[in-house]
Amino acid sequence: MNEFFEPVTVGKLDLPNRLFMAPMTRSRAVGGLVTELAAEYYAQRAGAGLIITEGIQPSVIGQGFIGTPGLHSPEQVAAWRRVTDAVHDRGGRIFAQLMHSGRVGHPCLYPDDALPVAPSAIASGEQIYTADGLLDHPTPRELSEADIAATVGDFVAAARNAIEAGFDGVELHGANGFLIHQFLCGSANARTDAYGGSIANRIRFAVEVVAAVSDAIGPERVGLRISPRNPNNGIRERDSAELYDALVEALAPIEPAYLHIMEWDRELTQRIRAAWPGTLVLNPYAGEQQSTPDYAAAALREGLADAVTLARFWLANPDLVERVRAGGPYNPVDPATFYGGDHQGYTDYPRLEQ
Ligand SMILES: Cc1cc2nc3c(=O)[nH]c(=O)nc-3n(C[C@H](O)[C@H](O)[C@H](O)COP(=O)(O)O)c2cc1C
Repeated sequence: MNEFFEPVTVGKLDLPNRLFMAPMTRSRAVGGLVTELAAEYYAQRAGAGLIITEGIQPSVIGQGFIGTPGLHSPEQVAAWRRVTDAVHDRGGRIFAQLMHSGRVGHPCLYPDDALPVAPSAIASGEQIYTADGLLDHPTPRELSEADIAATVGDFVAAARNAIEAGFDGVELHGANGFLIHQFLCGSANARTDAYGGSIANRIRFAVEVVAAVSDAIGPERVGLRISPRNPNNGIRERDSAELYDALVEALAPIEPAYLHIMEWDRELTQRIRAAWPGTLVLNPYAGEQQSTPDYAAAALREGLADAVTLARFWLANPDLVERVRAGGPYNPVDPATFYGGDHQGYTDYPRLEQ
């Protein structure tokens, strides 16, 4: 799997390997603050060419799950500073994933039982895990044009906070049916103004966020994650090929550090690879099977991307790079400890030498 060990450039960063850590929500923040344990967790994984953090809410209303951290207050910046310092001390690099979940939220997460916000008042049809068990996502409140401008501003402020907290850059979460994806897709976006209807209108919010954040912190520090045709969180794309053609064309002149595809459809990956002039990062999809380092290396060998991300393999193997070099073995992942809890299933996965 020598493909992983060719250096690669992302923005202005020279990275020693192409095996990146995919973003993973772990729901272990306390009051929106990451803990000391998070610093240890990420530092253990500093061997990744690039770490992309768990989804982080850029604003109070951007939160979609219990126990997720934010980047919209000075306390949150200080808490993240411990994480970025710990990763940098071990020689790693780390981008913050900014995730506004839009309609994938719940009043129990917000002050005054506010409704989550979205391009249109269309519920996801899915459920959220809360302290009271599984509850339906409510019908969200439709954002006004002024709200949309303010939301772009929230992304910008959070990106500036990320840089202040010592991150090497930010990844904007445009995948998995969260806010940016909701704007892209007609099944969640029924607006009749400049942000809905035609493809040119539906990509507007995504492009505005990427452009504004790039203006604020430099495009070389900005990535965007997309998940073409992925039906997560009630998304039903009907025009994926044309939609992402238009998005890629509009984003290219901004020259962000990378585009990150969470893959669902190999043909769409190939199409975007051919059209995207910049660095492409791929989270390869292996159908019912979990993607493995072998499978990810094959994607690099085929020239599908410049770097690959794995999620669960990094979760369970803090020293994944050493294990790949050694040809394994790999720790199995424990899904019961994905979300919430303590160090178990978080910082106690053993390294090879243990
Ligand atoms: C526990 C867990 C949490 C996740 N949280 C996020 C997240 O916060 N943001 C995101 O973009 N993707 C998230 N994902 C999706 C992963 O980044 C990845 O796309 C998916 O797990 C498939 O990759 P894998 O086969 O290597 O695990 C999560 C996945 C897992 C397993």
